[in-house]
Amino acid sequence: MDNITHIITYLGYLVATVMFIVGLKLQQRVPTARRGNHLSALGMLLAVILALLDLGTFNPLYIIIGVVIGSAIGAIAAYKAKMTDMPQMVALFNGLGGGASMLVALSLFHMEVLPKSQTMIAAIGADSAITTVLSIIIGAVTLTGSIVAFLKLQEWISGRPILIPGRHIINLVLAIAALVLGTWSLFADPSQVAIILWVFAAIALILGALLVIPIGGADMPVVISLLNSYSGLAAAMTGFVLKNNLLIVVGSLVGASGIILTRIMSKAMNRSLANVLFGGFGATDQTAGAGGEYSGVKSASIEESALILESASSVIFVPGYGLAVAQAQHAVKELAELLIKRGVSVKYAIHPVAGRMPGHMNVLLAESNVPYEQLYEMDAINHEFKATDVAVVIGANDVVNPAATHDRGSPIYGMPILNVHEARSVIIIKRSLGAGFAGIRNELFEYPNAVMMFADARKGLAGLTEELKQM
Ligand code: TAP
Repeated sequence: MDNITHIITYLGYLVATVMFIVGLKLQQRVPTARRGNHLSALGMLLAVILALLDLGTFNPLYIIIGVVIGSAIGAIAAYKAKMTDMPQMVALFNGLGGGASMLVALSLFHMEVLPKSQTMIAAIGADSAITTVLSIIIGAVTLTGSIVAFLKLQEWISGRPILIPGRHIINLVLAIAALVLGTWSLFADPSQVAIILWVFAAIALILGALLVIPIGGADMPVVISLLNSYSGLAAAMTGFVLKNNLLIVVGSLVGASGIILTRIMSKAMNRSLANVLFGGFGATDQTAGAGGEYSGVKSASIEESALILESASSVIFVPGYGLAVAQAQHAVKELAELLIKRGVSVKYAIHPVAGRMPGHMNVLLAESNVPYEQLYEMDAINHEFKATDVAVVIGANDVVNPAATHDRGSPIYGMPILNVHEARSVIIIKRSLGAGFAGIRNELFEYPNAVMMFADARKGLAGLTEELKQM
């Protein structure tokens, strides 16, 4: 590559880096998130083109074929995947990123180390050798960990924690073996190094799966976010291996944002990361079954619920996973608009882990053009329930379960919730008394100020709107 091309490529890398950073910044706020996403995607396209130029004399044909096939699969998957399947989708993407980093590091080893018949460190230098080893282990753990997470979320295997006896010891032994083999591979005799590195990779692959198998229940989103961070770290390591600055920057951005999101989510569920990773959440009997027995639950028909709403002057809607499943975002907006026309104060309360992915509810409500100023984060609205006439819970369950505030035996004890039980009346729209994601009973259903309106969220909300129009 001549000097001019070199300079152009590196300036292009700089532009792509800025596009990623600005894109991330724009994604922080709902109104600008879409633009941020487009900008980042454009940055990625630029990065791919520059990386191809950067290959110099290397024939890019295979890479282009790979990009075309990969993009086609990605585009079809993106169109087909439902909003509620997004966590699985993200898990797969993370896994593929980790797997790619592992394979790049292994192929670099085969291309640059093996032919030289030297130790890894002598052949490619200590920094490249160490980052190759790190790239393999982080990439491998991310690959199989993400595959297990995908299988669990897709319910192809049980989503509950699978607790293998002695798992901590097994994991510790595997981690020590990986550490020894990884270190040994740096100095090993050239005749042995390939076998050492492949055994090392195999152990890392097993470790990734074993680390995620015991995790279940409501902890899966945190794990996905952590694996996302790992995939970024693996990419950054591969950037060092390939001496590609852009990959280092992008990998670090993914690694850092993944770890920040992991922290935000652990906090929203009041769980430490160690507890998520080693706690086996959801394995106890209490979480088994469809939600447990209830007594004294009151149910209200659509007509009766409409009457409660008719006399309200303030209403807070609390959307949850069921709203997403029923695609009820337009129906809730319609009901809200009708109430506003009747002079009712209407707000939406958004719990940070409502639904199945970060920002799930914001995205859905934005889709139906609910004004942003009507959306309130949990901390901003929790004190308002006390002075609110009606809280309408739409397909939400765990995030409004008061057991989290006082029942030390509850698996979700300590998770901050939306205090809907403090409203004067609570209407809970869902199809049955069935449990939510955490698989536990919800004592809110038995509260004296709560009524269950058994209905599909979309049909129920449409019914309420129709009834109210008649009143
Ligand atoms: P959940 O506790 O999962 O409850 C959802 C409820 O929706 C279910 O109890 C279900 O009851 C109801 N539902 C399902 N389909 C419905 C439909 N068509 N119409 C009306 N209702 C319907 O939801 P949540 O309160 O949003 O809490 C989220 C949970 O998921 C938390 O435990 C959270 O930790 C976890 N989680 C969160 C994320 C993120 S990052 N947001 C990711 C993964 C997991 P019926 O079957 O009786 O209708």
